[in-house]
Amino acid sequence: MLSLDEIDAVFARYYFEGMGAVSRYDAKFLCELIHDSQPGKCFEVGVASGMSTTFLLKALAKIGPERELVSVDISQQYYADRTKEVGYVVATEVPEPGCRFGLHFHHWSADAAAFAADEKFDFVFIDAHHSHPWATIDTMLILPFVKPGAWIVLHDIALKDIPRFARETGPFHVYNSFLPPKKKSQFENQNIGAVQITGSHRAYEAQLLASLACQWTVSGVIKESFTHRIFELVDRLYSADFALQLRSQIEAHNKSVAFSVSQTRRRS
Ligand SMILES: C[S@@+](CC[C@H](N)C(=O)[O-])C[C@H]1O[C@@H](n2cnc3c(N)ncnc32)[C@H](O)[C@@H]1O
Repeated sequence: MLSLDEIDAVFARYYFEGMGAVSRYDAKFLCELIHDSQPGKCFEVGVASGMSTTFLLKALAKIGPERELVSVDISQQYYADRTKEVGYVVATEVPEPGCRFGLHFHHWSADAAAFAADEKFDFVFIDAHHSHPWATIDTMLILPFVKPGAWIVLHDIALKDIPRFARETGPFHVYNSFLPPKKKSQFENQNIGAVQITGSHRAYEAQLLASLACQWTVSGVIKESFTHRIFELVDRLYSADFALQLRSQIEAHNKSVAFSVSQTRRRS
């Protein structure tokens, strides 16, 4: 298993304040879960610098060959240093991954279906958009493509407890709404947690709806380019009642954002 010393050595080479990466203890949690669960095929949503990707790859290499990591990010440019490409740490830190690896820019959770066409995922790491309900939407779109027993790891489940990130409640609501089996880090502020998927995605509709029922904090409308894919997948994969509830909540959110924008314009 990757030791804390090995994790620290990577941080020493790349860490800078505000880089938006997992902490050393979050990395330890990820590596331990990989070691304990021995996944074959893994999916990561939200790469940024590539720190978490680096640890996932190093942890997978330790458990042996025939593993695979598919990492996706909506962006190609690293938001915390726009001179760099998403995943730049991986290129220098793991130039020859010890498993199959694909890094895909301009992709997101809706692409899980395509990446799981040959085989479903055993392990998922979600660390993308943190405003609610994005982590719930990510989880919803990935759930049909995980094997029973898979772990879905959620980063930043305690981010909302830091006052300046109070709106970043998305990962917390997923973790909190899902029933056991689940576990979270016992270190620092317990900012990373994982839920184990034991049944069909449809068995999780009530838990997804419980998460969706919490106050949404995403600012702005959820764009048509996203809703189009979300509705297409959910209509096809979930119950009609679930799809209807999701659709009406997203439409109500978008309407209310459009209304407040129009009110602000009228006042100014
Ligand atoms: C917090 S950073 C990820 C940090 C990374 N996991 C690490 O620990 O090194 C979030 C990343 O998610 C990406 N992102 C934001 N919204 C997304 C979405 N809906 N789908 C995929 N990626 C997204 C951003 O471009 C950003 O690179």
